[in-house]
Amino acid sequence: MTQDELKEMVAKAALDYIPKDGILGVGSGSTVVKFIEAIARYKVKVDAAVSSSNKTTELLKGIGVRVLDPNECEPYGCYIDGADEVNPAFEMIKGGGACLTREKILASMAEKFICIVDKSKLVEQLGRFPLPVEVIPMAIGQVSRTLTALGARPVLRAGCITDNGCNILDCHDFMIPDAGKTEDLINAIPGVVTVGLFAHRKANVVLYATEEGVQTRSW
Ligand code: 5RP
Repeated sequence: MTQDELKEMVAKAALDYIPKDGILGVGSGSTVVKFIEAIARYKVKVDAAVSSSNKTTELLKGIGVRVLDPNECEPYGCYIDGADEVNPAFEMIKGGGACLTREKILASMAEKFICIVDKSKLVEQLGRFPLPVEVIPMAIGQVSRTLTALGARPVLRAGCITDNGCNILDCHDFMIPDAGKTEDLINAIPGVVTVGLFAHRKANVVLYATEEGVQTRSW
């Protein structure tokens, strides 16, 4: 089975988590694209959504889903999104698609975070995937120096401007034994918008696709 087929499988399984009424939070990335395609294919009703990227907004509107401004919403029930890595504590690295800040905002508003991944994303320790950090452009130099002092090897993501008009530094060679502590440390650097560590707001449910089917872990 290809990674694409696994993503399709988990995207379809996530349809069961769409609330009958109320707002759905929708993340970004290729697994989420398949989730949005599945909503359309299986004609699942979505009352309204909040979206974590311009691309997701466009796709949702394209299938007739009403997309709301998060400022006009109260906290809501369910946020569905992919991840780049997930550890056994359900902490995640996200931001491979450069949407980490909006994803973190929507996740913070949701009662439940449903993470949808294929089995290749499950890891014992976070950090093999380069950790994305969204940075205000004038702070790239200083944030890079600080990240280097923390032990990372930051690389500016070429040609990437986020939906917020900022840049991404990807931290290579940076294993993360304590995700909560690292999230706090990096978020405290002046000029950092968000680090793509989701330790304080981790997933509640992880759906992961394997050749044998979709497995569910929850706490
Ligand atoms: C985007 C993200 C994505 O959820 C993450 O990169 C996983 O993407 P994909 O589903 O394409 O593997 O965090 O910012």
